[in-house]
Amino acid sequence: MYLEVTYPRDKGEFYPFLEEQLKLYTGGETDSVAALANFSSVLAQAFPRANWVGFYLVRGGELVLGPFQGRPAVSRIPYGAGVCGTAWRENAAQVVEDVSCFSGHIACDCNTHSEIVIPLRRSDGTIWGVLDMDSVEQGAFDLADRDGLTRCAAVLGRFGDDF
Ligand code: SME
Repeated sequence: MYLEVTYPRDKGEFYPFLEEQLKLYTGGETDSVAALANFSSVLAQAFPRANWVGFYLVRGGELVLGPFQGRPAVSRIPYGAGVCGTAWRENAAQVVEDVSCFSGHIACDCNTHSEIVIPLRRSDGTIWGVLDMDSVEQGAFDLADRDGLTRCAAVLGRFGDDF
């Protein structure tokens, strides 16, 4: 059962708290789809200004939509396309203050103004997917969010070989 919690405002406290919530709701799960689904839901609760949060998974030469929270979204993204495909190609998180300034941004929701995308890496460094979060606010994410979400994404590291 989900228990309402109040997240710390300070990012130095917020992310360790979030990591514990993510472990609480995904730690005992052996199925990757179920774990990613609850992971998305916890993030949606933790980031009330996020209008979309979820996963794209590497399948052959493209990213395919995985579990998410938000409006319907594009289901396939070619390597190197959009913010997600760029994160995959460059093997680097993307922090986009204003999506209208990102060349090739793929707009799934006209209310999105900023975005952060975190690559999901296996232990050998190869990428098995990305975590994508959109916000209705411009400049909603910064390098502290990049580092915090990267640490939180490691909670799912055990599923890398499922994809
Ligand atoms: N904006 C992303 C596409 C996914 S929708 O935001 C859910 C991109 O440019 O890759």
